[in-house]
This record gives sequence, structure tokens and C-alpha cells, in this order.
Amino acid sequence: MMSKLWGGRFAGGLDPIAWEFNASLSFDWRLAEVDIRGSIAWSKALMKAGVITLDEQHQISKGLTDILAEVRAGKFTHAPTDEDVHTAIERRLIELVGPVGGKLHTGRSRNDQVATDFALWIVDAIDRVDAFVKLVQTALVERAERDMGIILPGYTHFQQSQPILLSHWWLSHFWPLARDRQRLAQLRERAAVLPLGSGALAGTPFPIDRKFLANQLGFKTFSPNSIDAVSNRDSAAEFLFTAVMIAIHLSRLAEMLILYTSAEFGFIELSDAYSTGSSLMPQKKNPDTLELTRGKAGTMIGRLTGLLAVLKGLPSAYDKDLQEDKVPVFEATDTLCLMLPVVAGVLQTLIIRPEKMEAALNPAMLATDLADYLVNKGIPFREAHRLVGLAVRRAAALEIPLSQLPLAEFQSISPAFEKDIAEVFNFQASIARRNSPGGTSPAAVQVQLQQARAFLDDHKTRSSIPASQTPRGGDGS
Ligand code: ARG
Repeated sequence: MMSKLWGGRFAGGLDPIAWEFNASLSFDWRLAEVDIRGSIAWSKALMKAGVITLDEQHQISKGLTDILAEVRAGKFTHAPTDEDVHTAIERRLIELVGPVGGKLHTGRSRNDQVATDFALWIVDAIDRVDAFVKLVQTALVERAERDMGIILPGYTHFQQSQPILLSHWWLSHFWPLARDRQRLAQLRERAAVLPLGSGALAGTPFPIDRKFLANQLGFKTFSPNSIDAVSNRDSAAEFLFTAVMIAIHLSRLAEMLILYTSAEFGFIELSDAYSTGSSLMPQKKNPDTLELTRGKAGTMIGRLTGLLAVLKGLPSAYDKDLQEDKVPVFEATDTLCLMLPVVAGVLQTLIIRPEKMEAALNPAMLATDLADYLVNKGIPFREAHRLVGLAVRRAAALEIPLSQLPLAEFQSISPAFEKDIAEVFNFQASIARRNSPGGTSPAAVQVQLQQARAFLDDHKTRSSIPASQTPRGGDGS
């Protein structure tokens, strides 16, 4: 019978249910490739430290490389005694290369091993997610360029407020993602710190060159405290937070797009490639992809709070609670790697209905412009605000749009209103006046577009998106 790798101390076997409860192989198998990378580097460090010979290092390395091939080909067979990815690979190594394989774990613990594996995995996930966020950013910039000149109502409190350029609105969803990518880049630096060489908690007695190890694994530096190193899951938490932030940003965009697809707005129509039908109502075209974007953001928030709760009460160094760190991070990554290309595809293919946007513009949205008109005539803004408020009230009482209120009515409120108020009731002109940097005027939005393009140029991705996860927008069939 095969024995467990820590079996020596135990006379009796583990209860089968307890074994199942304890095991993590079903979900941490995803660490297999990084685990092997870490182990090859560790074998070199052991050799440099004089713990194993060059020949032994070669045997171990060869065994691990063969295992990597098995993993990649999906040919690795799990044994019932494999508790987690680390024990599975070590067990297989010993099968392949014999007792010399048993030398690999010298001076190392699964505690510093799993922390190293997870850091490597997270750095890689950061790069993958970053490429997908850039895809959505690019789709937003392209929309902003394509939809230049289209005007729609801008909302605060979800009440009509002031007219804005659609391009300005698209770009309002670009910058949150820019901050997310900055967060990813910053946390990548913090994640790239090597825990290996910390042993179980107290360090390792063998003269391991940790700088060499860090270099081998692409880490910038190594951890300064072994106790902290084996229990540090800051990168997992930060990564999850950033993933959640990305999802929240997409969710807010999704929420608006869902509203805009509703018949009452009709501002946009989703392409068939990103809509679904109803099993009962033949006329329905549902924005399921966007609803799931909103819903999954909620699930992800739960995962983040779950991980934080796991971390908060841990006694010093490694505790098995930390095994709970992986699933939320894996799930968040998988979710984003679908959610982001889906949202990019939605953006690339949706149809704009500018006439519906225009029809929704109400002249009352120019009330601020009317107050500014009075300000230009020397009236203090507070007083101008009151006078325009009276005009709005009068128009409402007469059940006519503010722009249709007769001049005589305006002048009975204030003689400062003159014939040229007609010029104020022009949505294009209102937009053009908001020419402050970052404002909605066409000129300001052109500058903003250049800034967005410059951001994309400055923030290159390290990872490329596999063809299978590139939005294609459907085939029309
Ligand atoms: N499967 C474990 C985890 O995910 C690996 C570390 C186990 N360490 C230990 N001392 N039992 O955290």
C-alpha cells in the first residue's frame, strides 16, 4: 500500500471523511505547473548549497520535467494517497527517479512551498487579467471614437441632469479600469517576493542562496521574515480586491447598458451574439450577459469578504485555514477571464440609437445654462438659480417645455431675461460650453481620447489573450 508522505509518525489511518475534508488536490491541482517550476529552482538551490550532487540535481530536474509533460498532456494519474498538489508531485517524482527524489524536500516545508506556488500563480493571473482589462478599455476607446458627436441625457440621482456626449460617457468607464490596471501593476510588485527558504516557519538550516532562488523564479527579492512569509496572503487578498473592483466597474457599466436596452429608453440594442431569448415569451431579447456581469460581481464580493474573514483571526505562521485561500482567487480569475471578453464583445457589437437619445433630451436639462446666462448679465448665481427655478415651475404649471415658455413669462420673473435666451436652448451649445479639462465639450473629449490612447500605449500587457477567449461577436447564425 502507498503511504502518505508524512506517514511515519502515524500508526493509524485517517478517517476517510476526514481525509476528504483535509485534501486540497481537487482544487489546488491548478498549481501543478508553478509547483514544478518552484521545485526545479529549489533543487538547484540545494545543489548550490551542497545538499545534493549535480548528478542528483539533474535526475530530479529530469523527473520534474517529465512530470510537467505528463501534467500538460493530461496524463498525470492521481493516487489515492495524494493529499494535495505538492504531495502528488513529490510522490510521482519518487516513482520516476527513485529514492533520490526523496531528497528534494530537504530544508523545505509545504508551508513555504505553497506560499511560493501561490505567489507565482497570482503574478501570472495578474498578467492574464490585465490583458483582458485592456481589451475592454480598447473597446471603450473605439466606441468613444466611433460615437463622437452623439448627445444623450446625463444623469445624477438617475434623474436627467445635463446633456453630455456619448463618447464622454463611454470614457467615464475607461478611467476606473485604468486605475484597476495601475492597482494590478502595483500589486504585482508586492506579490513578486519569494517565500521559499522560510521552511515551516523558522527558516532553513541549509545554506540556501535565496537571492539565486528569487532570480530563478522571476521574483524581485525574497521575504525578510520567515514567520510572516509562510502566512502572508496579502497578495491573494489584494488581488481579490482588485478583481472585485474590476467586476464592480463592469457591473456599473452593465447596469446602465441594461437600462438603456429597455424599451422605455431604447438607447442601445445588444447584438444577438450577446443576448438570449425567453423560453416563454417569443418577443424577448434579454441582456443576460450583462445581468450575469452584475450578478457575478456580487458573488465575487462575497468571496473577498470570505477570504478576509479566514485571515483575520489566524494565530502565528501557517494554519490549515490558509488552504481556503485558493478557491476564491481561482474563481475570481476564471470569472474575470470570461466576464471581461464578454463585456468587450458587447461593447464592440452593440447598436446605438442616436435618435432615441436625442428624443430623450428635455430642455429643462438646460436650466443650469439659463442660470449661467443670467450670471453673465451680472446676477449672482444663487439669485439666478432661484429665478430659473421659478421659470421651471411656471413651465411645469403650464405643462409646456421650459424652452416653450413665452418670453413675457420669463420677463415677468426677471427683466434680465431677454430675447436671446432662445440661444440658450441648444444642446450642442451647452455641451460645447463645458470645455473645462475633463469636461464634455467635443474639444475636451478629444483631449481625453488622446490621454486614453496614451494610457493604452504606456500600459502594455505582458500576456496575450488566447484565441479561444477573444470576442468574435457571433457568426450571425
Ligand atoms: N495544501 C496545503 C495548503 O493549501 C499545503 C500546505 C500544507 N502544510 C501543512 N503544514 N499541512 O495550504
